[in-house]
Amino acid sequence: MATYKFPHNFLWGAATAAYQIEGAWNEDSRGESIWDRFSHTPGNISNGDTGDIACDHYHRWEEDIALMRRLGLKAYRFSTSWSRVLPNGRGRINPKGLDFYDRLVDGLRAANIEPLLTLYHWDLPQTLQDEGGWDNRNTAHAFADYAALMVKRLGDRVKYWTTFNEPSVITFIGFLTGEHAPGIKDQRVAYQAAHHLMVAHGLGMQSIRAIEPDANAGIVLNLWMSEPASDSADDLVAANKFWDENETLFLDPLFKGYYPPAVYDMVGKNMPKIQDGDMALIAQKMDYLGVNYYSRNVIGVNGKVARIAGSEYTEMGWEVCAPAFRRMLVRINNEYSLPPIFITENGAAFEDEVGADGKVRDPRRIEYLKDHFIQTRLAMLDGVDVRGYMVWSLMDNFEWGHGFSKRFGLTYTDYAAQKRIVKDSGEWYAEVIRKNEVEESVGAG
Ligand code: FCB
Repeated sequence: MATYKFPHNFLWGAATAAYQIEGAWNEDSRGESIWDRFSHTPGNISNGDTGDIACDHYHRWEEDIALMRRLGLKAYRFSTSWSRVLPNGRGRINPKGLDFYDRLVDGLRAANIEPLLTLYHWDLPQTLQDEGGWDNRNTAHAFADYAALMVKRLGDRVKYWTTFNEPSVITFIGFLTGEHAPGIKDQRVAYQAAHHLMVAHGLGMQSIRAIEPDANAGIVLNLWMSEPASDSADDLVAANKFWDENETLFLDPLFKGYYPPAVYDMVGKNMPKIQDGDMALIAQKMDYLGVNYYSRNVIGVNGKVARIAGSEYTEMGWEVCAPAFRRMLVRINNEYSLPPIFITENGAAFEDEVGADGKVRDPRRIEYLKDHFIQTRLAMLDGVDVRGYMVWSLMDNFEWGHGFSKRFGLTYTDYAAQKRIVKDSGEWYAEVIRKNEVEESVGAG
């Protein structure tokens, strides 16, 4: 039985995002966001679910901080809702919105929990969308002003700032498949939006640094390892091409200062308009990289392999393959000159139920987390500088297009009663944090 010890200052935590938990969508002068509009449009979300109430965190934040204490979290990653603080995206400030985040941050500090704040987790103010959204370069400047507003108000207490969560999901699912807000399917718009997200990231970094030079500022990317379906050279070429087209779209501009040649080949005339100075702005130095990891893509000459024989799959239909996590971390560490890394999301959706004894037994989630913690520790021994780990998620919440049908929480959310029930995985995670170590044999049931 092996025991994996973590460095003493390793930052264990959990993550959420504003639209997925807050609710109170139209209270205290909050403005509409693209996710309100999208979820209120019939046919977009499973079961017609919306984030109108979600976990009602806007009203229950104190109880939720108590929950974090109970789990022993050292850190909490959350996002702020742009349209809650600037209902029209720019201009008029909503003091009640700012007050909410102020109370939350004070509450976290009082509980000795390090806040990691993400400025943009997909919920663009609808008024900015009406002016073209991320297809319009002005949105990047509006973002820089929003970032400055938040840092002025919270920068004395928040030390970790993230500009964007997962620009590739915004680009591919918001603008290519249209399954996320704003529900657009247009390749030209997608790649122009991608570039404007990068410009906004660069401007946002400058806003943060101008106000709080000592803040830690970075971005969060979701990275799926890409692996060949067989040992054949053709499959290897296909897997590498897939990696270049999908995963390096943001890694390359951020850490090398150019878009990958494979993306130029794929996108052709729909490559974005880039202005002089943009690439240097985008590639400015960051203090950390946030990595969200869930699964891998197995690619052959015929495309993605839908089902790997013998593999386990989660409720999202994502293959469970923890060793690919280590391989991915080592790969990016070898291919780029990276700042320290935080795992900013990792977790799994399974079908959880409350038992007759009131407990939620989720051994598969414990196994999943345990294996991914261990692979991270092994990657650290390989030389990858990982400083912390945020499990997705603190509690079950609104899972975008899937509504409430997918449960990722360490805590079960009973939406009707607005009750939180710590799952077995939550109890197990609390022990991991307390001991700062993971035991290989624990968790099977
Ligand atoms: C990530 C998102 C997060 C959550 C997980 C399951 O892509 O950042 O909000 O939905 O997936």
